[in-house]
Amino acid sequence: MLDFVIFAVTVIVVLIIAVIYMYPSSKKISTIPGLDKTSAEDGNLMDIQRAGSLHEFLQNLHEQHGPIVSFWIGDEFVVSIASPALFKQHLSVFDRPGDLYRIVTPVFGVNSILFLNGAEGRARRQLFDKSLHHENLDYYAEHLHKVSMDLVSKWSSLVKEEHIGLQEYMAAFATKAVLQCIMGSYFTDDKEVLAFKRNFDQVWSELEHRARDPEIPSAETPRGHQFETALKELRAVMTRALEHRKKHKLGRKEELTVDHIMAAHHNDKDAMVGDCLTYICSGIPQTASMLTWCLYFLASHPKVQDKLHTELLHEFKVSGEFHPSTVLRLKYLRQVLEESLRCAVVMPWTARYQDFDTEIGGHKIPKFTAVVHALGVVMQDETLFPVPNKFDPDRFNVENSKNRDTLAFPPFGFAGKRHCPARDWVYLATSTIVASLINRFQVSLVEGQVVTPVYGMVTQPQDEVWVTVHKRARRLVPSTVA
Ligand code: HEM
Repeated sequence: MLDFVIFAVTVIVVLIIAVIYMYPSSKKISTIPGLDKTSAEDGNLMDIQRAGSLHEFLQNLHEQHGPIVSFWIGDEFVVSIASPALFKQHLSVFDRPGDLYRIVTPVFGVNSILFLNGAEGRARRQLFDKSLHHENLDYYAEHLHKVSMDLVSKWSSLVKEEHIGLQEYMAAFATKAVLQCIMGSYFTDDKEVLAFKRNFDQVWSELEHRARDPEIPSAETPRGHQFETALKELRAVMTRALEHRKKHKLGRKEELTVDHIMAAHHNDKDAMVGDCLTYICSGIPQTASMLTWCLYFLASHPKVQDKLHTELLHEFKVSGEFHPSTVLRLKYLRQVLEESLRCAVVMPWTARYQDFDTEIGGHKIPKFTAVVHALGVVMQDETLFPVPNKFDPDRFNVENSKNRDTLAFPPFGFAGKRHCPARDWVYLATSTIVASLINRFQVSLVEGQVVTPVYGMVTQPQDEVWVTVHKRARRLVPSTVA
């Protein structure tokens, strides 16, 4: 009898161990470490809100559980990956899980390139990519040079020691530069730029609000009403810009993004406006943020600023001209821009999914699972970038970069040839304005400020960043663009 009891108990224990081994947690649908739902309805949304942002939530989660983690957004099981090795396993994935981006749908529309997957998505990307490609940079250089010179002359006319709000000036530059390069000459008229900006600022700040607090206000509430009104106005400005472009389209040399958008959507005006707004909303806040952070870092690191100024003096003395081939050749300037993108984590994440079951890092990923690419977590990983919060452009010199995996620095995304289509343009635009300003002005931080990043869809300083500028004694005047 005793033998039978011992046998029976042993069998039961073995069975329990087998069940525990095969199903590590009865609540988990995967072997990926991470969080169970905190609330049946919202999943971990409250945890994300408590962390401050998705980026900060992911930083904590990856620190606790390693480079692959899981959590819940509402009823949706979500995976996040954060290492060059895991990124490599997603190199060819193109499709994007629209659900994670639903807050932008009212602005971009359901037909936006942002949501388009499969063969159709790839084909539209190929078409649109033609316009911002590096071969066309010479064309944009002329416009960017002019917009930069407008800002230089504004700063030249400021009273000595006047405090300058970096966010305000960089947003104004980014708005003009993006509108003119994406939409064309309609936005050489400052009145139209202002009409656009007034409404755009309201729409964007509401989207950032919704990214932090997903409760969407109804159109009857003051906030909801303000958003709807601004969005309607914004669409009206874009429609006028499209009509203007149709009438005044110039020769083939000037194939802008707007021209490809018009060709792709034939007579579907809503879809045209949606794709134009996708490009513009994906471009202005990001470029403004990158520039604000870059000039803030230069103002708070005078030695880096001096070194950059020395490079500018030397290069312009040698080449004597201001041209993409010159400004993009400046190695230290590029290091400063890359370190600004890394340190500030301008766009902290993107995402993909696949319509079949797959595997990452040895874990099964059920089909349609959203996989977040935690770009910001990787760019702040201290094993890849020691003392990650320190601004140090020398991290990006040839010697220090040579053994680093290129996927350790993916500020524009990396997967499925769907990385940011404007990457080359961004380096041209930011190189042009930063070189123009630092060539003429010494930028200094107004003392006593605490500059705190807010990680939303785009990372911005919480409050305006104040600087003063002093005209430099020795400067070279770049010649006009060839
Ligand atoms: C500092 C500036 C910028 C940064 C850091 C940045 C970063 C990114 C990132 C991370 C993505 C997601 C890529 C992916 O899913 O793999 C993206 C997509 C995109 N970006 Fe940018 N971007 C910047 C500027 C711009 C500008 C200036 C434009 C246009 C004028 C632009 C247009 C777009 C568009 C349209 C997409 C979506 C493409 C698609 O869905 O296929 N971006 N960007």
